[in-house]
Amino acid sequence: MIRKIAKLAFALVTATALMSGAALAGGDAAKGKKVFNKCKACHSLKAGKNKIGPSLNGIIGRAAATVEGYKYSKAMKASGLTWDDETLQKYLTKPKKFIPGTKMAFAGLKKEKQRNDVIAYLKEKAM
Ligand code: HEC
Repeated sequence: MIRKIAKLAFALVTATALMSGAALAGGDAAKGKKVFNKCKACHSLKAGKNKIGPSLNGIIGRAAATVEGYKYSKAMKASGLTWDDETLQKYLTKPKKFIPGTKMAFAGLKKEKQRNDVIAYLKEKAM
């Protein structure tokens, strides 16, 4: 009986781990395009096109604060981050909490689904 419960618990833990992994990887780029409307006022996906914020062209895998000709905040320059699933998730949840002093005037995307979708969109469009 105890072994059965242990087995069951193990199966559950594995399933949950798999599911959360899938949720991270499984954003919907088409929906992310709509979420990106919130970013568009300040960000372009075209290389070299800086608006209020820097161009997000090639953002995935890029070191933070490295778009040429864009004047970043000190906080962003000092962040030492590389933009990947994890850092984008955190930054986009609450930019000013993750990088105090960032000049990105954006409250954040509260819903994990929206963050997953917009990151999927960035992966598709901004590579
Ligand atoms: C009101 C304007 C504004 C909005 C809206 C906005 N951003 Fe930003 N974003 C900025 C600014 C300004 C910076 C530069 C921050 C700094 O230097 O501290 C920035 C920086 C970034 C960076 C870091 C870029 C780099 O080169 O290191 C990422 C990634 C980013 N924004 C993603 C997004 C996404 C995704 C959205 C939409 C969900 C969004 N931003 C919405 C203004 C904005």
